[in-house]
Amino acid sequence: MFIDNFKVESPNVKYTEGEIHSVYNYETTELVHENRNGTYQWIVQPKNVKYEFKTDTHVPKLGVLLVGWGGNNGCTLTGGVIANREGISWATKDKVQQANYFGSLTQASSIRVGSYKGEEIYAPFKSLLPMVNPDDIVFGGWDISNMNLADAMARARVFDIDLQKQLRPYMESMIPLPGIYDPDFIAANQSSRANNVIKGTKKEQIQQVIQDIREFKEKIKVDRVVVLWTANTERYTNVVVGLNDTVENLMAAVDRNEAEISPSTLYAIACILENIPFINGSPQNTFVPGLIEMAIQRNCLIGGDDFKSGQTKMKSVLVDFLVGAGIKPTSIVSYNHLGNNDGMNLSAPQTFRSKEISKSNVVDDMVASNGILYEPGEHPDHVIVIKYVPYVGDSKRAMDEYTSEIFMGGKSTIVMHNTCEDSLLAAPIILDLVLLAELSTRIQLKADGEGKFHSFHPVATILSYLTKAPLVPPGTPVVNALSKQRAMLENIMRACVGLAPENNMILEYK
Ligand code: NAI
Repeated sequence: MFIDNFKVESPNVKYTEGEIHSVYNYETTELVHENRNGTYQWIVQPKNVKYEFKTDTHVPKLGVLLVGWGGNNGCTLTGGVIANREGISWATKDKVQQANYFGSLTQASSIRVGSYKGEEIYAPFKSLLPMVNPDDIVFGGWDISNMNLADAMARARVFDIDLQKQLRPYMESMIPLPGIYDPDFIAANQSSRANNVIKGTKKEQIQQVIQDIREFKEKIKVDRVVVLWTANTERYTNVVVGLNDTVENLMAAVDRNEAEISPSTLYAIACILENIPFINGSPQNTFVPGLIEMAIQRNCLIGGDDFKSGQTKMKSVLVDFLVGAGIKPTSIVSYNHLGNNDGMNLSAPQTFRSKEISKSNVVDDMVASNGILYEPGEHPDHVIVIKYVPYVGDSKRAMDEYTSEIFMGGKSTIVMHNTCEDSLLAAPIILDLVLLAELSTRIQLKADGEGKFHSFHPVATILSYLTKAPLVPPGTPVVNALSKQRAMLENIMRACVGLAPENNMILEYK
């Protein structure tokens, strides 16, 4: 059965004007490896830590600034939100289609809240904590191309034509602000697009972005702003001692107008200086060490990298299932071809390399979790190919072959083929990223013994379900398995309203 909303009644949770306060017992384990009676042993000790969570229930008016607003993702997301807000429906050859938020974890998925008279009861994911309604988001952003969003939507060839016609009046007047363009960081084939660029030194470009954010806030009268990079994939930045390894070195390098500071890093610096959450939806290493240090020092949320939308999402489910079932994937080969501007940009070796890196590490944690299947250091062969085929446009083709060793030396090969508009997968993920980033800035926590409440670590691992190569604070494990990432997010949100994690034990029926 499905219910729309619920309220928790428990001695562990207090709803007050403007706040939810919860007390939560975090049950975990602590490991020691020590010499006991002459041999080294692993000792596992259960540990119980009392946490308190405070969630500000005042839902702000949210502005979202997209870097690369006029790209396929930018205009698909903007048009999709307008269509939902305005209740637009359109004729396709199959039926009259209503706008929806399918593919969004927060808007279109559900959580189990318990059982009632022998039936499982589910509620919307978004009913766990007060969240911004995506219909109320005001969009803006930058693009190195000055094409208005209505024309950009037509160029993207993603939405049905009847929908495009209805959206056009809302989107014609939306024109991206000039962006920071550096031809050294994206493919040469993008240069013909760059007619809308911020001039000046790197320091001046940062100042312009800061001014843009302030003006947007002022003009639209939003309480909070989140900035998200959905512009072209950049090549990797060289991480060099003395250049971008510390905050001081990075800011000094900006002052010297050093060439090796990417546009995405410049936008991120501007955001951190303004304490605006910044999320990177592309694979490049925007977050160089000096920038991460800066976000930590200023306690400003950063998250990334690279939207986990299609092939990689499937990989982080399938390999988790195989390894979890005691089956040994030995070869994973992923081909893609796509014909949108992202595909064209990725046809250059340097930008492709960024994508290859972010797609490559996704099975590492699952492989490392099973020493029965894999020797230390052993890894499946893992190959990623991306080709640009203009005719297919945004409709990306992904072909994957997984070969595994099964019982008694047998082999099992699974082949998958997926055809799907890339931007229709990415847009709801962008929505979740900005909604969850905003929500997480309203949550404070404190462990037993900690004097004061504090926010989550500024490197937002809570967003990892949505990213291919989750950015984590130094010294924190990277979790790629999709089910674990979802459980982490859901269980933290449950803790905020004093609910136990979903443990699937269903003991009441045993
Ligand atoms: P797109 O090429 O259609 O859009 C990118 C936009 O960014 C373009 O309009 C371009 O003019 C603009 N741009 C480039 N450099 C800029 C800069 N420095 N400042 C401001 N604007 C700039 O690409 P699409 O399909 O929208 O994808 C965007 C990004 O998202 C790509 O990096 C892609 O790899 C990444 N991504 C997309 C996924 C998907 O499923 N669509 C999944 C994972 C990542």
